[in-house]
Amino acid sequence: MKRIISIMLAAALIISAMAGCRTEDGEEGGTARIGISMPTQSLQRWNQDGANMKAQFEAAGYVVDLQFAGDNDIPTQISQLENMIATGVDVLVIAAIDAFSLGFVLEEAVAKGIPVIAYDRLIMDTAAVSYYATFDNWLVGALQGTFLRDALDLDNAEGPFNIELFTGDPADNNIHFFFGGAMEVLMPYIESGKLVVPSGQIEQAQVATPMWSTERAQERMENLISAQGYGPTGTPLHAVLSSNDSVAQGITNALLAVGYDADNFPLLTGQDCDIASMKNILAGHQSMSVFKDTRTLAAQVVLMVDALLKGEPVPVNDTEIYDNGVKVVPSFQCVPVFGDINNYVELLIDSGYYTMDQLQ
Ligand code: BGC
Repeated sequence: MKRIISIMLAAALIISAMAGCRTEDGEEGGTARIGISMPTQSLQRWNQDGANMKAQFEAAGYVVDLQFAGDNDIPTQISQLENMIATGVDVLVIAAIDAFSLGFVLEEAVAKGIPVIAYDRLIMDTAAVSYYATFDNWLVGALQGTFLRDALDLDNAEGPFNIELFTGDPADNNIHFFFGGAMEVLMPYIESGKLVVPSGQIEQAQVATPMWSTERAQERMENLISAQGYGPTGTPLHAVLSSNDSVAQGITNALLAVGYDADNFPLLTGQDCDIASMKNILAGHQSMSVFKDTRTLAAQVVLMVDALLKGEPVPVNDTEIYDNGVKVVPSFQCVPVFGDINNYVELLIDSGYYTMDQLQ
């Protein structure tokens, strides 16, 4: 039954992709072209996002121009967008590297009447963004903070517990939500002294990780280890908040290098359920992650683009949260899900996201 429904849905989308598209001179006809701009190929999630969107748009009858901006290279992303605009795509779907650097190029899209959908990361300071498709980013942080609160049993245990904090790229608007959502849970315990941040680094700007880089996170963790004397026989480190998996992987590397192992590993959060982090979770070198099913987000974007091209109401479920400095962008937030060693089989294997072999 499910299969029949998806075939019917794909067929309906193909018909609308053919019908809903404009030619250069504004007449109906041909097949609509979707320009998809992803930030990097060096992080697993964006490869998956790109591949899922390409497959789902093509299955719905669209033509896709999918580009990855080298390894988070802002000028490359801008020139790829210029090229897509020049070749006359019908819609742009963009995961920005730098939320603040696309305003100028997007003016060209506006001039050509090309709608822009911000993908996963909000594009800031421009009226050119029509819609935003993402996950509930505050909830991502809240899941991480709640996990640490419960795993340390902060409401009952005597403590105090030592924690260090890490978030992501300062040019990614999402970190306000990830870090904000986690700190909303943790801050009362920091204020009461139950949780202690020995480095004193608790401001978002102090704990940011440029480009979400594993290496930069590793370096910062190494510095914290030397400054505070953390180690299995040194100053206790009970927990590390990390906003995502690429950052968590750098933290894990630094902690392993000073002798932590599965028996005494500090609690460590993440996000994305990257393969490398899932392996760390299975080895006891990371505690949890947050699963954001890129298939769901891709499917949502296909629905949004389809409605947009047909001139129908675009499905959104939020019209208040995501203010980009110029306007509140109508958004669809998908639901992120807690993932760890106890539920990964159901979440990732049974759902067909990974095979067990990939996690060995
Ligand atoms: C995404 C995360 C990702 C991070 C690094 C964020 O904008 O929401 O899922 O881990 O970028 O690429």
